[in-house]
Amino acid sequence: MRSVSWSTDPRISVIGTGYLGTTQAVCLAELGFEVIGVDIDAARVRRLSAGEVPFYEPGLEALLRKNLEAGRLAFSSSLAEAVDRADTHFICVGTPQRAGSDAADLRYVEAAISGLIAAGPGPGTLVVGKSTVPVGTAGRLAAKLAAGAPGAELAWNPEFLREGFAVDDTLRPDRLVFGVTPGGHAPERLRTVFARLIDNGTPVIVTDYATAELAKGAANAFLATKISFINAMAEVCDVVGGDVVALAGALAHDDRIGPLFLRAGIGFGGGCLPKDIRALQARARELGVGPALAFLGEVDAVNIRARDRAVALAREVLGDEPTNRAVGVLGAAFKPNSDDIRDSPALEVALALRRAGAHVAVYDPAAVGAAREVHPSLHFAESVIGAVAGAEVVLVLTEWAEFRELDPAVLRPHVARPVVIDGRAALDPQVWRAAGWTYRALGRPPFGPLSSELDLDHRAGLDLVDETAHRGGGLQEG
Ligand code: UDX
Repeated sequence: MRSVSWSTDPRISVIGTGYLGTTQAVCLAELGFEVIGVDIDAARVRRLSAGEVPFYEPGLEALLRKNLEAGRLAFSSSLAEAVDRADTHFICVGTPQRAGSDAADLRYVEAAISGLIAAGPGPGTLVVGKSTVPVGTAGRLAAKLAAGAPGAELAWNPEFLREGFAVDDTLRPDRLVFGVTPGGHAPERLRTVFARLIDNGTPVIVTDYATAELAKGAANAFLATKISFINAMAEVCDVVGGDVVALAGALAHDDRIGPLFLRAGIGFGGGCLPKDIRALQARARELGVGPALAFLGEVDAVNIRARDRAVALAREVLGDEPTNRAVGVLGAAFKPNSDDIRDSPALEVALALRRAGAHVAVYDPAAVGAAREVHPSLHFAESVIGAVAGAEVVLVLTEWAEFRELDPAVLRPHVARPVVIDGRAALDPQVWRAAGWTYRALGRPPFGPLSSELDLDHRAGLDLVDETAHRGGGLQEG
């Protein structure tokens, strides 16, 4: 057993090197700490050690290389090495949806704790959970740690980073939440680790384990609810001939509602929101408070319907004869600035049209490689023009800047019919219609020019929901 003194600088290990762990390891090294990243995947460890980030995340690779070169950052497959070198261990492993159930699969978190205990961490060791877990997990793991590694302490510090903005969100978070037990050393140690962020004004909420665990689940549930709310309104708009983008603009000007996460379209996907709202409901049912979160079932249902409605709209513009018709799809990632295709609404829509018999060509600036491997039935193009060539309908399903900035006049000669379905409320209908295109979108009226006043609202809405705009401040060099 190795003893650790609280007075030394924290020496950090990060267990799990996915999106969360890699970003955490790199950013903690950037903050000046010695960090060892640990993963059971030896190939991943080799790539990271060579300065290569195994997924698309803007800005991360440059920081990885900088910190490897500075000698502050290393990667290993050995938990024993992590326990040898570090006194503060961040658990950043995945908690995917359990097969055949809505609940979270905690096997990787359990394995990380067991592995740490087996390596014999000394008294004064701090284990910090960052993974998204069902409420009650931290309490159980703390008891396991206390039994297996006397003198070691557990804290829960949920992570709120968004893919595509992972570095920024980690170095300039909106808040830090520390779930701790009374009387322990964890708050002091965590304040040391995050001192530069705290000095820059990041608020800290110190609370119990359960509240910290819930903070993450509740935040994602709220965001998912906001998206499904506007998509539910889009369904109503479709019936009454209203414009959901103007509606979102009208709502956004109410400070109590705000503009973010009101972009209507084909809904939320990715590795977090869909599985987290299901896990939260599953846990609520286990705890006997199922009815309190039953509305999240509706949030999920609205979200799935958004994908179906996009497919139905595409079929409608094809006269309900999709077989062998050419469809161009722009976007495969679940959101822009990411190559992540987990539960991607864009790919779901593309696959449904393929299953209906259409010939579907997909282009995405970052996710083609990943998508091609899992979906060989789709045709993948290397450019926008490649995907839309000869298409009878073009669907914009991920709002990459490259697609938002497309010139419809340049695209028009390449398609068989100039019909665009804007699945992300990302295009300016005036511009596309002026270039001779039929513009269709969920929750937006199909005919008649949208008035310039509505269009102003539309543009204001897009500017306001630009996810880069809402986080301020800067990390001072220290
Ligand atoms: C989310 C949370 O935002 C983050 O705090 C948490 O740590 C992990 O889960 P992320 O999955 O990276 O982050 O994506 P996010 O930016 O939240 O987008 C989720 C999905 O919602 C995407 O598919 C996106 O396209 C969709 N979305 C977002 C909308 O459909 N409309 C919107 O207005 C905003």
